[in-house]
Amino acid sequence: MTITANWSYPTAIKFGAGRIKELADHCKAAGMKKPLLITDRGLAPMAITQNALDILEANGLGRAIFADVDPNPNDVNLAAGVKAFKDGGHDGVVAFGGGSGLDLGKCVAFMAGQTRPVWDFEDVGDWWTRASVEGIAPIVAVPTTAGTGSEVGRASVITNSASHVKKVIFHPKFLPAVTICDPELTVGMPKVITAGTGMDAFAHCLEAYSSPFYHPMSAGIALEGMRLVKEYLPRAYKDGGDIEARANMMSAAAMGAVAFQKGLGAIHSLSHPVGAIYNTHHGMTNAVVMPPVLRFNRSAIEDKIVRAAAYLGISGGFDGFYDYVLKLREELGVPDKLAALGVGTDRIDEMSEMAIVDPTAGGNPVELTLDAAKTLFRECI
Ligand SMILES: [Fe+2]
Repeated sequence: MTITANWSYPTAIKFGAGRIKELADHCKAAGMKKPLLITDRGLAPMAITQNALDILEANGLGRAIFADVDPNPNDVNLAAGVKAFKDGGHDGVVAFGGGSGLDLGKCVAFMAGQTRPVWDFEDVGDWWTRASVEGIAPIVAVPTTAGTGSEVGRASVITNSASHVKKVIFHPKFLPAVTICDPELTVGMPKVITAGTGMDAFAHCLEAYSSPFYHPMSAGIALEGMRLVKEYLPRAYKDGGDIEARANMMSAAAMGAVAFQKGLGAIHSLSHPVGAIYNTHHGMTNAVVMPPVLRFNRSAIEDKIVRAAAYLGISGGFDGFYDYVLKLREELGVPDKLAALGVGTDRIDEMSEMAIVDPTAGGNPVELTLDAAKTLFRECI
């Protein structure tokens, strides 16, 4: 292991129940006069979204919305969003929602200033330096789930609609100028989304903590993130109106995304092709593949997991932690196998090829070979 690293920490976070009322102030402070609120189709008509538009309108910022966003946002959504942004003469983006609204919103703000195709800015080497910085619009992020952590991240995941491959698009300017974390916005989340998004946050913390890269700050954040999930996700799942639980899950989500600068791993490498091909829920997919990946990685992470288990108050070391994950999944109604999410065995070869070149595969503590990926998919499905 080399003790050399590049560390980045997140942006201004306005945290607390009711703080959505500050939305217009933060947009104005970021230089916006005519923001475009970007969210997904499901969220567009909901009261939390309409309330955010009311706040913008009441403060002279208009009430423009773009919501033509798929659950796994793609280049078609992106092109339509950039067109809406330019046609409307907008000067900033309110990225509003779960992972899809946040990721697409951030990417529209970025692409508004580019002439090259989005795939030229994939998170590969220093490709991000190809971007023209002047035209990038400011972003205010408002998460309405607690899982993705995209609100504090410098990247978006965009699916290539032709190849069905998910690509990570990266630029430092994807980082929102301000993020408003208001747990009241997550109160209406259906149970299945609370479970799936919460398990995504847990997967981010677990994989970041387990990755072999040197980042002790992130390791500490990941550990406390897992503790928050353990204490508060079952509460948020049982009682969606439990604001203390919702708030702590919102923290855990942001912490997971800060922590995964340290790396992700095979949970995400397997989950990305499944989501890209079958359009499954990302966090729920992670939750299903988590136990087989833990078993696969055991030899490399056992010591670390024993320390994590001790911190989390779980007895029995690695086995105790593994049993805890199984119990948590059961408590949250997570299915045991991917078949329950509609995934078949007929595309295992194709998904395995995609998994081993997924950008997260390099962070897995045990090398994810093609054979290993096929075996894991067979176990998971
Ligand atoms: Fe994730």
